[in-house]
Amino acid sequence: MKFKWWQTGVIYQIYPRSFMDANGDGIGDLQGVINRLDYLAHTLGVDAIWLSPFYPSPMVDFGYDVSNYVDVDPMFGDLAIFDELLNKAHALNLKVIIDFVPNHCSDQHPWFLESRQSKDNPKRDWFIWKDAKPDGSPPNNWLSVFGGSAWEWDEHTQQYYLHKFVKEQADFNWRNPEVKAAMFEVIRFWLNRKVDGFRIDVAHFILKDPDFRDNPLNENGETPLHKDFKDYDSQIHIHDKGHQDVHEVYADLRTMLDNFDEKEKVSIGEIHVFDFDLLSSYYGSVERKEFHLPFNFTLLGLPWDATKARHLVESYEASLPKNAWPNYVMGNHDEKRMASRFEKDELRAMSLMLLTLRGTPTLYYGDEIGMLEAEIPLDKMQDPWGINVPGLGRDGCRTPMQWTNAKHAGFSEGASTWLPVFDEQNINVKDQLEEEDSLLNLYRKLLKIRRSSDALKCGAFETLNAYTNDQFWFYRRFVDQEECWILINFSKEKKKINLPSFAQILCRTQSDDMSKEAIQSLTLEAKEAILLAKNPMT
Ligand code: GLC
Repeated sequence: MKFKWWQTGVIYQIYPRSFMDANGDGIGDLQGVINRLDYLAHTLGVDAIWLSPFYPSPMVDFGYDVSNYVDVDPMFGDLAIFDELLNKAHALNLKVIIDFVPNHCSDQHPWFLESRQSKDNPKRDWFIWKDAKPDGSPPNNWLSVFGGSAWEWDEHTQQYYLHKFVKEQADFNWRNPEVKAAMFEVIRFWLNRKVDGFRIDVAHFILKDPDFRDNPLNENGETPLHKDFKDYDSQIHIHDKGHQDVHEVYADLRTMLDNFDEKEKVSIGEIHVFDFDLLSSYYGSVERKEFHLPFNFTLLGLPWDATKARHLVESYEASLPKNAWPNYVMGNHDEKRMASRFEKDELRAMSLMLLTLRGTPTLYYGDEIGMLEAEIPLDKMQDPWGINVPGLGRDGCRTPMQWTNAKHAGFSEGASTWLPVFDEQNINVKDQLEEEDSLLNLYRKLLKIRRSSDALKCGAFETLNAYTNDQFWFYRRFVDQEECWILINFSKEKKKINLPSFAQILCRTQSDDMSKEAIQSLTLEAKEAILLAKNPMT
């Protein structure tokens, strides 16, 4: 079987506002990404980048409120710069995946502006409009993820429209075939420009209960976080997202992608589903495929625990339908930074795990240097979610990339940056390149090994039961004659183990003792992960 680039490669997420500012306005841009392509392709050694939205947008939700799907916001550049980015990335063998936001658009998008003009406007039915209940209240109890009701009253046309996120993000009516046609046209526009794939924003949200039934209450729901908003978790969200009709849309999308270019384009679904059987349904069936990679977010909640790590990976593996390819995410622009979820040693071991599990890893910018979650004071807070619901803000994981120990960590030469730079002194690419045992050098080493190892890129996965208990998780990856072992010591103690003869220690996270003599009787340091090759690797 020939493996595709999105199976063997490693994806790196760029949040364009925060990666590199080339024009000094304090906000990252596409030229900034171009300037760092060499870092990505050579210094770090990833295979694909995913760019969070760069489309024209009022930026209420920082680009996830799109007001034109087929252009670039002047803040980030223009289409010519996008094309240049794409060409230069391709010349470096880097694939480019872009964000596609189908559930909603900005309330400033011409389609919505038209829709809200009158009840008989041809675009009225492109969005979800409903009458008020007789007492004037919203049509049902659905909530916005970002706090409050999901319905906004429109004084002019005397109806409510639906917004599952902020009120400036109006939800499309995907039951209207014109919407589907228009959105598929957007996909075609970017395919013609030669992008390599799409990360599809809240993919499962696009179809809701056609009868708009109330969500049932969640009896175990938490108390509201904010007195003005009902907590989102106070309901079970069975009617306001994930209606089974979504599968047809993504099967059609897959057909379109597969027909486009020798099956080389990838679709990645952002689907916050933590039940593996349900998540697996988004792969579709062998006859009617859907997503190549429905994002697997379960590692985001993984504590430092051998049994839980093993159980999570094994149950995920067991749930995968035939021919489905696994994937893992440890961080993104919506979640607390990985380096703030684990202690330093644990972080190194978890990074080794992420890059040695079977499946496509997606890395988040800055995680390779251990950027920490920043505390953003209320007066500097940007994220509408954090402003609406204290405690749920995402600014802390979106601070500018730390390149050097210069002003603004080398991210910008402007007077100020859109979010404060978290750490100008200690954690940055430049210093870590010079420190042999830095986290960045660990990532570089692991990415290099991974590139040269078929076992790691596409081999099978299996727990080594004889060595695994509640303190240790050992697993192997193997294909043909090549076999790698991954040993993770979750305990706080050193541990000596006897192994069958091995040819080579490839990488270890706590010690630099790589001696061959040490191999048969090996001491794992506390919280250490080790990667071994059974046969010498070339
Ligand atoms: C997704 C994005 C998030 C955005 C939301 C609404 O969850 O990852 O950043 O706010 O969708 O588009």
